[in-house]
Amino acid sequence: MNLQQNKSLKAYNTFGIDQPAEYFAELVDIKDLPELTELPYRKHILGGGSNVLLTEPVKGLVIQNGLKGITVEKEDADHVWLNVAAGSIWHELVMHTAEKGWGGIENLALIPGTAGASPIQNIGAYGVEAKETIERVNFWDWDEKVFRTFNNHECRFGYRDSIFKHELKDKAFITSVVYKLSKQPKFNTSYGAIEQELEELGVKELSVKAIAHAVMNIRKSKLPDPAVIGNAGSFFKNPTIGRAKYEELYERFPTIPSYTVSDTLVKVPAGWLIEQCGWKGYRKGDAGVHAKQALVLVNYGNAKGKEIWDLSADILKSVNERFGIELEREVQPMTP
Ligand code: EPU
Repeated sequence: MNLQQNKSLKAYNTFGIDQPAEYFAELVDIKDLPELTELPYRKHILGGGSNVLLTEPVKGLVIQNGLKGITVEKEDADHVWLNVAAGSIWHELVMHTAEKGWGGIENLALIPGTAGASPIQNIGAYGVEAKETIERVNFWDWDEKVFRTFNNHECRFGYRDSIFKHELKDKAFITSVVYKLSKQPKFNTSYGAIEQELEELGVKELSVKAIAHAVMNIRKSKLPDPAVIGNAGSFFKNPTIGRAKYEELYERFPTIPSYTVSDTLVKVPAGWLIEQCGWKGYRKGDAGVHAKQALVLVNYGNAKGKEIWDLSADILKSVNERFGIELEREVQPMTP
């Protein structure tokens, strides 16, 4: 394995932030994991770098997950189980399933990042979450020095959340994910914009491919392409608040959008809250708030990670002052 020193991570994070890693290695062979484990450096795992903000130089070893490959583990008349190496590009996986007509992840087209990140974040969009198709997650346990497998339940999935962000944070190197996809898919077009887009595309008969296509068009119209403008998708999570609090806000702001979570809980879109505070399209230096979706912070070129982090702190503060809601960041710094 090739261990590099003082390596720029600019090409390895979708924000395009230029910070060095003290040590850097790309893992392409699972057999190298035991050897890597013995290296006396603090380890940071990097997938597609689409959920991280580099605010400082990274001390220790950054490991790029370079494990690739999609294999059919088994199939029957209704389903196919795909074993996907964690470093595989997520969108390429979605396109592969769309070609085959295997349903389950088509609403998640164009999400940046790797398959290995899909269980960590429980990625989601347009009414679908990765947890609905994830059957198992295989990983190397840095502490126990063994390969382990978690079933769906053991991953403790929540909204943009899993055990890999808590008890197993920095302890698990995900090697592959097994997805159970459907050969007779039930499509989820409940998210308003999808129906509209399918109509505009003139789609008469629903298919995995048609939905993936519609989702791609919607995302392209709203979200910046990280290859053009640095970003990590939604910077904040959509907050869940108590119904009483929501009623109070509704009195003051009758246009506030909301989604019912339960009898007592309501989710409100962070993008709306941020826009109301006047941040949409804001820019200071090269750090900014995307003009078409206020939930997305962007790097127009040479922004420092710290500038983006500080901007997010200013946004948190103003949303809290105006609405009494504490936003939570979805994007995290890579602890130095
Ligand atoms: N809105 C505004 N102003 C904005 C942005 C949104 O008023 O600047 C309002 C919209 O009008 C709408 C509501 O907020 O009423 C929801 O907006 P949208 O449909 O764009 O979705 P979102 O809640 O902002 C979430 C996910 C996205 C995902 C979309 C579509 C989170 C944190 N974000 O965004 O996920 O693509 O729904 O399902 O849950 C990501 O996680 O990186 C991501 C892009």
